Amino acid sequence: MLQLSNDVLQRLLKAAQDARAHSHSPYSRYAVGAAVLDEHGAIHAGCNIENAAYPQGWCAEATALGAMVMAGGLRAKAVLVTGPGPDVITPCGGCRQKLREFGDDALIVIAADPRGIQQSWTLGQLLPASFGPDHLK
Ligand code: THU
Repeated sequence: MLQLSNDVLQRLLKAAQDARAHSHSPYSRYAVGAAVLDEHGAIHAGCNIENAAYPQGWCAEATALGAMVMAGGLRAKAVLVTGPGPDVITPCGGCRQKLREFGDDALIVIAADPRGIQQSWTLGQLLPASFGPDHLK
């Protein structure tokens, strides 16, 4: 999968699967885990966290990006998202924009399910002609 070694892919998958086990999703019952690879080679994971006031819940990618920032990471190189299957999961529109804050068009987005890695894209493919930090310079 593009520039990522098999070792990194497997570590992203395991981190996202482990995070998914923590999902707080009693309303949708759709558990999601995400793992972000930062510019230091470190991996940061998160799960979706829902709320009884439905709009207050958030996605696994948001949790993972928060973990990355808190650990000192500022650039996202790749993200792996894993859901229950059987449909391939991709980051929602809002999460694509959140990823854009810390990554460029080359950021690798990988989809997995309980069977393993299924598909990948670049962020540029999923969020073309995006608005990003450079617009505010
Ligand atoms: N969800 C994620 O965590 N990431 C995605 O990429 C898609 C959707 C969550 C949000 C909500 O808790 C549940 O999946 C159902 O939409």
